[in-house]
Amino acid sequence: MSASSQPSPATARAGHPLAGTVRVPGDKSISHRSLMFGGLAAGETRITGLLEGEDVLRTGEAMKAMGAVIVRTGGEWIVQGTGNGALLEAETPLDFGNAGTGSRLTMGLVGTYDMETTFIGDDSLSKRPMKRVLDPLREFGTQILSSAEGDRMPLTLRGPRRAAPITYRVPMASAQVKSAVLLAGLNTPGITTVVEPIMTRDHTEKMLKGFGAELEVETDATGVRHIRLVGEGKLTGRTIAVPGDPSSAAFPLVAALIVPGSDITIENVLINPTRTGLIETLLEMGASIELLNRRDAGGEDVADLRVRHSELKGVTVPPSRAPFMIDEYPVLAVAASFAEGETVMEGVEELRVKESDRLTATADGLKVNGVTCVEGHEFLRVTGRPGGKGLGGGIVSTHLDHRIAMAFLVMGLAAEKPVTVDDRAMIATSFPEFMDLMASLGAEIE
Ligand code: S3P
Repeated sequence: MSASSQPSPATARAGHPLAGTVRVPGDKSISHRSLMFGGLAAGETRITGLLEGEDVLRTGEAMKAMGAVIVRTGGEWIVQGTGNGALLEAETPLDFGNAGTGSRLTMGLVGTYDMETTFIGDDSLSKRPMKRVLDPLREFGTQILSSAEGDRMPLTLRGPRRAAPITYRVPMASAQVKSAVLLAGLNTPGITTVVEPIMTRDHTEKMLKGFGAELEVETDATGVRHIRLVGEGKLTGRTIAVPGDPSSAAFPLVAALIVPGSDITIENVLINPTRTGLIETLLEMGASIELLNRRDAGGEDVADLRVRHSELKGVTVPPSRAPFMIDEYPVLAVAASFAEGETVMEGVEELRVKESDRLTATADGLKVNGVTCVEGHEFLRVTGRPGGKGLGGGIVSTHLDHRIAMAFLVMGLAAEKPVTVDDRAMIATSFPEFMDLMASLGAEIE
């Protein structure tokens, strides 16, 4: 499924209502961290529900290259970690494929080790900014021995003999940058502090604590979070059940909302409040989404989502919600295409540095399918056509971006004319079961 293999287009068309009960694969953010922290912690970590997508498997390979032992038996992944501070130098470059999360978090993880690590990736990953992670690493004393222009991959870094702890204020809303700094702090004596003015997904904080790290979070009177981690502590392996990924659930969820007559249930979806911005927005738009059987699963909130076809109306999504739904804007834009009136998405400039420039890729996909939209530097305004009248008929350029591919296939299920995406291959990076799962609900995608 590399960028160099032949593109494999896919076409979605309107057909039956969607019906049935499904489970989406494990959360991508938690899956990466499970293999990474399990690979670092002393002793055994057992993981069920791991997302077996290409991105996560690359993280597993990287941890193996640095000394972890990782095997899959039955449905369970068993990891024997090296112990904190005891990663080994990888003998060959770590190839992260399409994965921003895997590569950026691993840069943090190895950045304070006195060893050389080389990072490579596909065409999409090689275009993405790594300076946001390398800048704080330089403050720890990490040297960037080589990199492509603008601090991009391929790049090689080497940590200092002994790192010095830092206090770092994260300049953009990014869980990856926050996490990279905290992971660098694990192998640094003293207290590493991350100051986070805008809260982002908190899986790193929660999971590191679960592995035994001494970490505390204080939110000051202005809402700014101060995360303090004591370095060089012991991490111990544990058992993890990865809940379903809300960012993957978003696709069947929006499909059910826009395909007339649909009624589906998506079981066991993570509803951590840092991940539920899309659900909140769709509820404001008039969506019928019920959160059933809410429960705690290993320290995370999960629920079953019952979703029925709904007449949606446009809303304005405030910039403050962006970190809690950053990966869901392409599919929200698709939902907005079927809503009455205008939907405005504000403060979404971070979309420009995802697997593709997602703001432009989304706007272009909408336009070729007859949707009226305006793309600004940091906003997108979509004018809906209830019932999908006049929509579809376009071929969407996916730019090696899994979420662009899935979002526009969802559009095709309710548009008047079919929608084609130029390549389905990258879907396997995050949601290998997407085609089969959608087919099981009655979707026509081929
Ligand atoms: C992720 C953080 C987000 C998100 C990505 C996963 C993570 O990226 O888009 O899919 O697991 O930390 P940014 O930190 O760049 O916003």
